Amino acid sequence: MMRALTCYGIFAEQAGGTFAHTEMSRLLREDDPHSLKYISLWCTEPWTWDAWPRLDEAVRTGRSVFDGLYGKGFFDYLHEDAHESAHVFNQAMTTSSMQSALDVAELLDLTGAATVADIGGGQGHVLASLLEKNPGLRGTLLDLPRVVAGADPRLRDGGSLADRVTIVPGDCREAIPVEADVYIIKNILEWDDDSTRRTLRNVVSAARPGARVVVIENLVDDTPSMKFTTSMDLLLLLNVGGAKHTRESMSARMADAGLVVGDVRPVNAYLHAFDSVTPGG
Ligand SMILES: C[S@@+](CC[C@H](N)C(=O)[O-])C[C@H]1O[C@@H](n2cnc3c(N)ncnc32)[C@H](O)[C@@H]1O
Repeated sequence: MMRALTCYGIFAEQAGGTFAHTEMSRLLREDDPHSLKYISLWCTEPWTWDAWPRLDEAVRTGRSVFDGLYGKGFFDYLHEDAHESAHVFNQAMTTSSMQSALDVAELLDLTGAATVADIGGGQGHVLASLLEKNPGLRGTLLDLPRVVAGADPRLRDGGSLADRVTIVPGDCREAIPVEADVYIIKNILEWDDDSTRRTLRNVVSAARPGARVVVIENLVDDTPSMKFTTSMDLLLLLNVGGAKHTRESMSARMADAGLVVGDVRPVNAYLHAFDSVTPGG
């Protein structure tokens, strides 16, 4: 086992039959600041071994194979039948969003904005980083009820940012009842096209003319981490019938919803930010 892993650069064989850590093996540790432990576990959860053999079917139909395998949609399966996988998923999302939240706060210049809304903002790590960086800013976190119930303690009652935050439990495909100067939509528009269309239209109808809308995504045609993004693209097809975007497919969907797309800039080595404004501003 150790030899096999060494062939892939995970561990290095030493004299005397011992093995040492490498840069790559350290990423599997939970205490590494760039830890990929939970993302790695996520990519090898038990359901993935059932889903990958049906990749040909998913590619031919362009649809998830999940209902065919388990008789229900992916997130229902995760929350009802696979609690350990749900835990791994939450940990993977939390680690990756904490790592990227600081990069997003560093990149986005919110000078002149009084309010920001993070749509599908998970537990609010990005929002918390934005509020910590911009002391005059107020923010809204919108996500599904059971997700915002576990929001970052900084945002909840008694937390250091609570008096500047509104938490809105809801479904962004149904409505986005939030008015803000800036809307952030990060790593959400990777599901089916209908959900993407509805979410973007809901933002456009909630926002005043000229409001700023920033979509942040991993692109399958422009990233140094192409192996990771293209594999996640296929995993998303298998589990939720979704896809990662190209620069062009993301811009086109934003324009279809009526947004006026401006700069597209890298946030870090694996994320891009699409800046846009709502029409009529
Ligand atoms: C990949 S996570 C991204 C979270 C966060 N934006 C980030 O980048 O750290 C996708 C998020 O979309 C949320 N989500 C899924 N369906 C949703 C819906 N219908 N309405 C609102 N949020 C939803 C999930 O709960 C989850 O927090």
